[in-house]
Amino acid sequence: MPFASCRRRTIGAALFALAAALIGFLSSCSSVPRTLVVAPQIPGATLLGNDQCYYCHTNYSRSFQGNVHFRVRADVEKLPGGTSCESCHGPGSLHATAPRDRAGLIFNPRKDPQACYNCHLDVQLQFRLPQHHPVAEGQMNCVQCHDPHGREIFKPSGGLGMARLNEQCSQCHREQARTFVFEHEANREGCVTCHSPHGSMHAKMLTERDSNLCLKCHSQVQQGAGELWIGKVDHKPLLALGSCWSAGCHTAVHGSNFHPKMLY
Ligand code: HEC
Ligand code: HEC
Ligand code: HEC
Ligand code: HEC
Ligand code: HEC
Ligand code: HEC
Ligand code: HEC
Repeated sequence: MPFASCRRRTIGAALFALAAALIGFLSSCSSVPRTLVVAPQIPGATLLGNDQCYYCHTNYSRSFQGNVHFRVRADVEKLPGGTSCESCHGPGSLHATAPRDRAGLIFNPRKDPQACYNCHLDVQLQFRLPQHHPVAEGQMNCVQCHDPHGREIFKPSGGLGMARLNEQCSQCHREQARTFVFEHEANREGCVTCHSPHGSMHAKMLTERDSNLCLKCHSQVQQGAGELWIGKVDHKPLLALGSCWSAGCHTAVHGSNFHPKMLY
């Protein structure tokens, strides 16, 4: 991941509700890989440590310790509880003494994905791919799918493994995530086995553009030259017509209420 690299970056003022242009802050590259590279700057403020934040923001004091970002710390001298809150919000000393001051004494990223791109540059590139969830367009944001404070980074939290990931998608895509009479077991592996949630080169954000998407799970038996057996059917002539779903065959890729082979 790129934020492991050690280099100085400049961030535009637009990033913050502060007036002046701010300079990216450089941490030492020595310790944990993927330590903080850039943090918001609050002029005149110093780091306090998470324990101070928990004192007033009690709602986060338990849940946040389960979040992956709890482990992210500015590589500075140890402060009580680490400084991971401040890695996204900037140093909090001025805010703590005047919490109701509206003069930008603490940085609130709100729905701005830039706050996340500071560390997740690779994700920014994924959202620039031709097919993507409309985050750059401002119609969606990272915190709809990820909870920066919760015990679990994937929203909604609760549940286990892939079921939980699918639930994340089903908030908005009920049609594909509902239960079917003939379910496609591939869904148990998660929507993300076939879709790249941030972005992809391929239509519908698919991980593969053609029948390879399906062939990676469905055993192919090569019997004679020019044959491709899946189940009891030689698929070779069929695949010449298009992909498994676009050729008008398994159009009900997510599951079917009518046909066990998901033909419709
Ligand atoms: C002394 C109590 C206190 C401490 C300590 C404190 N906060 Fe706050 N914080 C508040 C209060 C009260 C508000 C709500 C202000 C309002 O709504 O006017 C607030 C608001 C915020 C906001 C939202 C600001 C906005 O403009 O929307 C953020 C972000 C925040 N705090 C982060 C932190 C972080 C990070 C720390 C630790 C470095 C911290 N706070 C420490 C009391 C505190
Ligand atoms: C990974 C980055 C990240 C970390 C780490 C983080 N926050 Fe936040 N915080 C955000 C984002 C993004 C928002 C805006 C969320 C939104 O608008 O839905 C936010 C909003 C807030 C708010 C304002 C909530 C509101 O309802 O307006 C407070 C208070 C806050 N954070 C406190 C904290 C505290 C305390 C910690 C450490 C326990 C912390 N944050 C750690 C990213 C982070
Ligand atoms: C200060 C740097 C920093 C910022 C800012 C930041 N992250 Fe992270 N994030 C990390 C690190 C470090 C990890 C852990 C990477 C790892 O262990 O693979 C991580 C991991 C993640 C993961 C992966 C969890 C997993 O289990 O693989 C998600 C999702 C994530 N961050 C989302 C966000 C979102 C959304 C924001 C903005 C609200 C954000 N991050 C802001 C540093 C940051
Ligand atoms: C549509 C929901 C959705 C949105 C919007 C979204 N993510 Fe994700 N993100 C996911 C899912 C699902 C995964 C898990 C992918 C997997 O396991 O293959 C993930 C994984 C991640 C990871 C860990 C894996 C990696 O690719 O590095 C990071 C970091 C991350 N997201 C950051 C972000 C940031 C930053 C944003 C906003 C710019 C964002 N995400 C917006 C659904 C989303
Ligand atoms: C917060 C709502 C939301 C969540 C959660 C969400 N999506 Fe989406 N999704 C959208 C929106 C909005 C679009 C764009 C629709 C459009 O352009 O017509 C979209 C588009 C898509 C498309 C492309 C549809 C097309 O016609 O090209 C796919 C595939 C998709 N999402 C899969 C997923 C998967 C997989 C997940 C879970 C990791 C997920 N979505 C989570 C809102 C969401
Ligand atoms: C086995 C692979 C696979 C899995 C698993 C999968 N999808 Fe799809 N999905 C596809 C294919 C292939 C298409 C394109 C269908 C088409 O173009 O007719 C698609 C299309 C979509 C679309 C666009 C719908 C449209 O009408 O254009 C959405 C939204 C979507 N999937 C969401 C999901 C969600 C949510 C999940 C998890 C519950 C999921 N998918 C699981 C393969 C899959
Ligand atoms: C993650 C692995 C995986 C992927 C990817 C996958 N499938 Fe499946 N599929 C399964 C499993 C598991 C079953 C149930 C066991 C079986 O019948 O092979 C299944 C069953 C089927 C069935 C019913 C077979 C029968 O005889 O009842 C069809 C049709 C099917 N898949 C088509 C597709 C198509 C089309 C794609 C690509 C869009 C695809 N699959 C991608 C795992 C996958």
